[in-house]
Amino acid sequence: MTAPLRILSVVGARPNFMKIAPFARAVDAHNASDPERLIEHFLLHTGQHYDAAMSASFFDALGIPEPDIDLGIGSGSHAEQVGRTMMAFESVVRDRKPDWIIVVGDVNATCACSITAKKEHVQLAHIEAGLRSFDLEMPEEINRMVCDRLSDRLYVTDKLAAANLRAEGVPEDRIRFVGNIMIDTLDANIDRARVLDIADIVQSNLISDYAPEASAFRIPHSAFDTYALMTLHRPSNVDKPEVLGSLVEFFTGTVCKDMPLIWTLHPRTRERLVSFGLWDKVANCEGLWLVNPFGYHELLRLNMDARVFFTDSGGLQEECCVLGTPCVTLRFNTERPVTLVEHDGVSTLVGNDLARISETYQSSLSLQRRPHRPPLWDGHTAERIVADLVSG
Ligand code: UD1
Repeated sequence: MTAPLRILSVVGARPNFMKIAPFARAVDAHNASDPERLIEHFLLHTGQHYDAAMSASFFDALGIPEPDIDLGIGSGSHAEQVGRTMMAFESVVRDRKPDWIIVVGDVNATCACSITAKKEHVQLAHIEAGLRSFDLEMPEEINRMVCDRLSDRLYVTDKLAAANLRAEGVPEDRIRFVGNIMIDTLDANIDRARVLDIADIVQSNLISDYAPEASAFRIPHSAFDTYALMTLHRPSNVDKPEVLGSLVEFFTGTVCKDMPLIWTLHPRTRERLVSFGLWDKVANCEGLWLVNPFGYHELLRLNMDARVFFTDSGGLQEECCVLGTPCVTLRFNTERPVTLVEHDGVSTLVGNDLARISETYQSSLSLQRRPHRPPLWDGHTAERIVADLVSG
């Protein structure tokens, strides 16, 4: 029997959890089927996201094993988060001596642990490599560039991402086209999501200080025959009072007049609504349902039947693409062009330009749901990655 392959994988923030769940499962399946070539897998959480609703609930719901190590980094400026993570991660790498370090996505944990991995001379693999928005105002773009420049193995979701890497001079033998690991998670969980009840989901997540009567008031099931869904968290949309104010004006004044709008609030967005004096307006708007961050299955269930999804998230553009939900993307660019209407997806970029948001919203109302799966978004990406790592 050969010595086990030692793999240390890293998560830090909410969008990482859906990407590591299928990887951990594929490692277990490999170990069960090929005990001659065992993988010893350690999972590390940097602790960038720490609220139960942003972190622990995803571990439970997606069956991710307890992290072997939790760095407890928490919030802070970007330099603080990256610096603290690098310092704490260095001693873990020295102690565990992995053969490979696996990072996913584009959050600060991804960047910090990539740099430390290479400084410690450990092989580095990046799952979801090659995505580029070409917008260096986004911290995620910097994280992607740093991580991809340092990675020994780059697992890409689609051909456009592979082309980005080639254009940057990444040697061909480092690039592996394996598909989208997020869709492994979607496929593995859709049946569990399907049976959830929409009114129950909203009811149980209502923000309590905004809806103190919620325990007495039962939301009727008919309230959500048709509904729109929204998530916003990017600094470009929520950090400037004039921008967030005009978005609130549009959603309360137009969308909520047409249909109920379910708005799940990231902690940053909630804090900004309060500090910019917008809370009373949103809290008192009829047809606007303000809810805490949803669990994975809850948001998936709502996405399956939403009439339209307003979002600035990258991962949700991908989930809308596979589910076919018309997606009004409140960004001026995207690192995931494969999800755009011009590539047979469902997402349209509208930035925070109110005329474009309004026009795209109006035309989305006449669209049918149109699911689309780019090549290899087939639910088997994690297996391909594990097979590739084991083969050397
Ligand atoms: C991070 C990622 C972003 C991802 C997003 C998803 C980076 C650079 N950004 O952004 O790519 O789309 O996660 O959620 O890594 N907070 C809490 N509880 C928590 C976590 C955060 O209250 O568990 C609050 C804190 O006030 C914090 C703020 O949210 O300052 C922002 O959190 P942070 O981790 O800095 O970045 P995100 O905006 O969540």
